[in-house]
Amino acid sequence: MSSHPDLAVDLFLPASGGTEELLADEVQRITGRPAEHARGGVWVRGSFETAMQLNLESRLAQRVLWPLVDGPYRDEQDLYALARRVRWTDWMSPAQTLRVDVNAQRSPLTSLNFTALRIKDAVCDAMREATGERPSVDTRRPDVPLVLYVGPDHAVLYLDTTGEALFKRGWRDARGGREDVKGEAPLKETLAAAMLAAIGWQGRKEDGPLLDPCCGAGTIAIEAAQMACGMAPGAQRRFAFERQLPFRPHLKAWDAMRAAARARVHAPHVAVVAGDVSFRMTDFAERNAERAGVKHAIEFKTMDALQRPAPAPHGVILMNPPYGERIAPKGQGSRAGPTLAREQFEGGDSSQVFFGSLASHWKRHYAGWSAWVLTPDFKLPSHMRLKESRRVPLWNGPIECRLFRFDLVAGSAR
Ligand SMILES: C[S@@+](CC[C@H](N)C(=O)[O-])C[C@H]1O[C@@H](n2cnc3c(N)ncnc32)[C@H](O)[C@@H]1O
Repeated sequence: MSSHPDLAVDLFLPASGGTEELLADEVQRITGRPAEHARGGVWVRGSFETAMQLNLESRLAQRVLWPLVDGPYRDEQDLYALARRVRWTDWMSPAQTLRVDVNAQRSPLTSLNFTALRIKDAVCDAMREATGERPSVDTRRPDVPLVLYVGPDHAVLYLDTTGEALFKRGWRDARGGREDVKGEAPLKETLAAAMLAAIGWQGRKEDGPLLDPCCGAGTIAIEAAQMACGMAPGAQRRFAFERQLPFRPHLKAWDAMRAAARARVHAPHVAVVAGDVSFRMTDFAERNAERAGVKHAIEFKTMDALQRPAPAPHGVILMNPPYGERIAPKGQGSRAGPTLAREQFEGGDSSQVFFGSLASHWKRHYAGWSAWVLTPDFKLPSHMRLKESRRVPLWNGPIECRLFRFDLVAGSAR
């Protein structure tokens, strides 16, 4: 049986590795319904309006997928037949565009491109038979993005209600930033949100101030500040479902959902502090925060992390420090200037020196704080000569990382 737009389904929300359980908790909080998680994502029962709400409110999901049809398969012909079982006129008009992506795990299919083509043929053939016209393909911004998941012998075809992945919150400059600002690759918003969820920081007063002393483009601070202000992550962007047929009867509900999200925004419940050793990065982060509507909620200051005094007696540091590069030259844009001279880095392992100095600085000035550091370097605690009290596995794209927690007490050595 294929699904009907008016009947509830098991929505699937893909998540990046290690964040599934966090996403299940988030989905449960947003929808008030039990959510199940497995490797790769979360399922929750819901209607088209549930899908709309999750698109607007989820900070951790990559997208929200609506199952159209599923069944066993052996080859591309079976998948063509599977896709023909969907009543496509419920979902699109021939004037709309589509794209098909295929996700395969242990599948016997030899060409995923050919598989995608067969699904596209099925949709076009069905639409032509029903309406006399066939939709066209748009790989860039399709109205109806379809995602086919194929396992060893079972396939599910989903309608993607999201469109551009949810980590795109709508505040980043379309060019990826000012051309003169070349920082390290910023974290995805969904990963920054997963880090915040993993440490249990929700922007409540009792969570304490949050500091990112190596803020780069400001992703962590912006995500945190939006939470501290009760903002919906999707309030500044559009979604594919807004162009899809089943959305039409829900237009009023959608307006109401967005209005309710706007009405919920409040002054920040807790301080968010951020900065970078490079003035250009701090400035860039500040502009990003402005576009994200939270400039007022973040205290920015260009400063070397090795010199930054604690902004409060207690709080939480959350950061992904520079990795695999010399650290000192970054200080050239800084007003304070880097603490460690360039020469010190050029001969030896700059990151070991940096992390050793950071740990000493924290022990001296941040007693009472906890610091969470995301890194692909599993030996970070030994470089810092600190013993971690927790380590959370997370993936930064294809890179396996650990989010280490250090409880800072004066002179806390390993
Ligand atoms: C991996 S990036 C952070 C990316 C950031 N989370 C984002 O999403 O854009 C690390 C940042 O640390 C900054 N940095 C390097 N050395 C520093 C220091 N001594 N003090 C403060 N920031 C530093 C770099 O300028 C860089 O922007």
